[in-house]
Amino acid sequence: MRVIAVASEAYPLVKTGGLADVTGALPAALAAEGIAVTTLLPGYPAILAALGDARAIATPGPGQRILAGRAGGLDLAVLDAPPLFDRPGNPYTAPGGGDWPDNAARFAALARAGAMLARGEAGLARFDLLHAHDWQAALAPAYLAFASGRRVPSVLTVHNMAFQGQFPPETFPSLGLPPEAFTVEGIEYYGNVGFLKAGMHFADRITTVSPTYATEIATPEGGMGLDGLIRARAGRVAGIVNGIDETVWSPTTDAALPARYDAATLDLRAANRAAIEVAFGLTADASPLFAVVTRLTWQKGMDVLAEAVPALVAAGGRLALLGSGDAALEGAFLAAAQAHPGRVGVRIGFDETLSHIMFGGADAILVPSRFEPCGLTQLYGLRYGCVPVVARVGGLADTVIDANAAALEAGVATGLAFAPVTTPALTAAIMRAAALHGDAVAWAGMQRAGMRADLSWRRRAGAYAALFRGVIDG
Ligand code: ADP
Ligand code: GLC
Repeated sequence: MRVIAVASEAYPLVKTGGLADVTGALPAALAAEGIAVTTLLPGYPAILAALGDARAIATPGPGQRILAGRAGGLDLAVLDAPPLFDRPGNPYTAPGGGDWPDNAARFAALARAGAMLARGEAGLARFDLLHAHDWQAALAPAYLAFASGRRVPSVLTVHNMAFQGQFPPETFPSLGLPPEAFTVEGIEYYGNVGFLKAGMHFADRITTVSPTYATEIATPEGGMGLDGLIRARAGRVAGIVNGIDETVWSPTTDAALPARYDAATLDLRAANRAAIEVAFGLTADASPLFAVVTRLTWQKGMDVLAEAVPALVAAGGRLALLGSGDAALEGAFLAAAQAHPGRVGVRIGFDETLSHIMFGGADAILVPSRFEPCGLTQLYGLRYGCVPVVARVGGLADTVIDANAAALEAGVATGLAFAPVTTPALTAAIMRAAALHGDAVAWAGMQRAGMRADLSWRRRAGAYAALFRGVIDG
C-alpha cells in the first residue's frame, strides 16, 4: 500500500508542536506494516535546505514546483512555492505574531498539490490513499471529491479541533473548486469557508488522536461547532492514541541527556536534575522538582498553573517551566520566577534539547490542560520516569493511571490525574504529588510502572493500517 501524507510540519525538519512528532514518526511505524508513506510538506526554507539537491517532478501551478527527495528519515514531496513559503517566522504566523494573511492560499495550494500527487498527476505513481493532517491539509479530500475519474480514498486526522482554518467567503473563488462545493454539504461553514469542516465532510474516515477525545468532540463543548458533523458521521470516526518515537525519546540512548539511565538505574537521573537546576537557576536540594514543557495558552491551563504557583512553592516544590506563547502568560511566569527566586525558574522559548533534559531529570511533568486531544509530554514523562500530573481529559485520561490507593497497591499507578481544571483541584494534585514524592518506594514504583508502559508506535500503527485497509477495501 502506498500512502501520501499531507501535513504542515514534521519532526525533525520543522516543528511547532505534537503534530510534527506524529507526522515525523508514523511513516517508519507504518513501513513495518507494509505501508510506504510519502509525506508532502510546504517548501519552508528549513525544509528546502534539508532536502538539498532534489529533483523537480511537477509544476502544479504558476511559480510552484513539486520536489521529491529524502530528508529527516522521510520520503518527501515538497511544494516549492517561494511566494507562499519562503519567509521567516513560523509555519503559521509572522515574526511579530499573528497569522499570515494569506494562509488560506498557502494551505489550499498544499492540499491541492496533495490531491494531484494522490491521483498520479504530479510525477509520482497514483497512491492508494491520502492521509491529511489537520486543517492545513484538510482541503485535500475536497479536491479529491471534485476530481474526475477513479476516486482516491482519504483519511483526515484531527489533531486539535480548536484550529479549524476558517476564512471569509471571498476566499472561495481562489480555491479552484467548482461553485457547487460552496454549500453546507461541502466546504461552506456558517457562510465562511471551513477547511477542517470540508475535510471532515469529504474524507472517508475521520480519526483523532485518542479515544476519549473522539467522544469529547461529539459534544458541544469539545466539538467547538463541529460536533454536529462528528455525530452525523459517527460510524466513520475513530480515536487512535499517539505513540512516541523511541529512536528519539528513550532515556537509555538520548544523546541530549548528561546521564543516560533505565528503570534499574534511576539514581543516575540526579545528574540531569542538576543540569536543570543550573539551567533554571533553582536551588539544589531534594525537594520535588516539577517541570512544564508547553505552548503557553489557555488550552494548556497555564493561567490556572500560574495561580497555583504560590501553593506549589508552599508545598516545598520547585518549578522549571519551558514554553512560549501568550504574552500575558509569559509575563505571569516571569513574574513568578522573580517572586520565588531559586524555587521557580522560567525559560521563554522553544528548546528541543533542554526539553529532553527536563524529562530526564525532573520528578514530575505538569499537564493541566483544559482539553488535550492526545498530548505527548505526558508520554515522554512516562518513558523517562518523570511522573505525569495531568488533567483528566482527552488523551491525558487515556494514557495516565492515577495513583489512587488501589492502583498504588497493585503497582499499576503511573501518575496523578485531577479534575476539574481549577486552581484548587490543581493545587490538591500538586500537594498529593509532593506527599507521594516523600515516599521514595512508592514514587520509584510509579516511575518504573510508567517506564514499562508500551508507548511505542507499533500497536498504534497497526490500528492505522487496519483502518486504511478498511477504507481501501471499501
Ligand atoms: P501540542 O501539540 O498541543 O502543543 P503536544 O503535547 O502534543 O502538544 O506536543 C507538544 C510537543 O512540542 C512536544 O514534543 C513538546 O515537548 C514540544 N514542546 C512544546 N513546547 C516546547 C518548548 N517550549 N520547547 C521545546 N519543546 C516544546
Ligand atoms: C495537537 C494536540 C495534542 C496532540 C498533537 C499530536 O497539537 O493539541 O494534544 O498530542 O496534536 O497529535
